[in-house]
Amino acid sequence: MALHLSARHFSCVKVLTRRASLDSATSVFLFRRFSEELHTRPRERDTSERERSQSVTAFYYQSAIDQAAAKSPDKSHILRSAQYLSKELPVRIAHRIAGFRNLPFIVGCNPTILQVHELYIRAFHILSNFPVITNLQGEEKYSDTLRQLLDDHKDVVTMLAEGFAQVRKHITDENLIRTFLDRTLTSRLGIRMLAEHHLSLHDEKPNHVGVVNIAFSPRRLIEKKAQYAKSLCEGKYGNAPNVVLNGHLNATFPYIQPPLDYILTEILKNSFRATVETHSSNGYNMPEIVVTIANNDSDFVIRVSDRGGGLPQKLVQKAFEYNFTTAGAVREDHDGGLFDSFVASPQSTPTPGKMHGYGFGLPTARAYANYLGGSLTMETMEGIGTDVYLRLGHLDSKSESFRI
Ligand SMILES: Nc1ncnc2c1ncn2[C@@H]1O[C@H](COP(=O)(O)OP(=O)(O)OP(=O)(O)O)[C@@H](O)[C@H]1O
Ligand SMILES: [Mg+2]
Repeated sequence: MALHLSARHFSCVKVLTRRASLDSATSVFLFRRFSEELHTRPRERDTSERERSQSVTAFYYQSAIDQAAAKSPDKSHILRSAQYLSKELPVRIAHRIAGFRNLPFIVGCNPTILQVHELYIRAFHILSNFPVITNLQGEEKYSDTLRQLLDDHKDVVTMLAEGFAQVRKHITDENLIRTFLDRTLTSRLGIRMLAEHHLSLHDEKPNHVGVVNIAFSPRRLIEKKAQYAKSLCEGKYGNAPNVVLNGHLNATFPYIQPPLDYILTEILKNSFRATVETHSSNGYNMPEIVVTIANNDSDFVIRVSDRGGGLPQKLVQKAFEYNFTTAGAVREDHDGGLFDSFVASPQSTPTPGKMHGYGFGLPTARAYANYLGGSLTMETMEGIGTDVYLRLGHLDSKSESFRI
């Protein structure tokens, strides 16, 4: 598998969900796949690519494509999905390996970062050497391999956080790190979503087509994540603020939930921590964390407001830098590890406490939000509290296409 070749062949998945919401009875829900360069730089394009792009666009609305993408009783859609992934994943992984190779020597030599690099090389070889998938037996084996690889790679975010915390002092170029981590983490998210989507095609989960929840309820997810963060907080402090929800509580629409699991957990954990730290002397009389949901035709916004004392304006930008954290100071002040379990993320690590204080929560959440075509911003009032805004486009929005 040539790296040069693969660089020109990112595939994109466009999720068209409007049909699904219009016609959920028949579950007509299409994943349309088309090849197109993801990061197009005009000077890099050659004529054949331009032609390919044009012809894809010209035939984009053909009903034959809809039929080919629809679910089939003989499970041929699962077979097609595996065949697609078997070509696509090695390409994406090869790009990540190239990213590791381009890291400064001193960074790439860090044992933890090297371990992640090797995980990617191993995955590349396993997937690129996988026999051509021609039938459902082959697909089953391929799915088992994917499951195993997903599991092998589950700690990658934690490992990168650890590794980069160790090499920080050698790095002067902040942009280099941000670019590498933004790309690596979002590409990992994309790969996992594609793999999980494929694996979940086997399941008949109500209201789901693969990883897409066609009746996604922001309220239900926020309640679940708030409950999770609250229980971690109570476990550590014996106390936690309440979370109150308002806005468009009844909104439901199609969305891919896994990245939101991560983003909301990280935002809420920060708010819990800030609130408890700032109001520890208030006993049980802590200000609530207020989460507001706003849903409209083209996008939806989730605002998390806390009264956790905010942070100085000059630190707002820093808070979005990888490895920036104030947790170290807090740990020292409080005799170590106070927040260890509290800031652990179920998405990033199975071991509570591992993610604490790496300063990865906000930058990773923002990179995910950007990857999903949205944004994550923070407004803070020092001495009072912080508002974090997560803004994401709908999958079926006409203006923007959503690509994994
Ligand atoms: N709601 C908030 N109120 C006050 N400060 C905040 C808030 N959210 C984030 N911060 C500040 O921004 C810093 C970076 O946040 P981030 O979530 O990236 O890292 P962390 O919480 O320190 O560690 P990790 O999330 O990796 O466990 C925090 O250490 C904290 O100082
Ligand atoms: Mg955090």
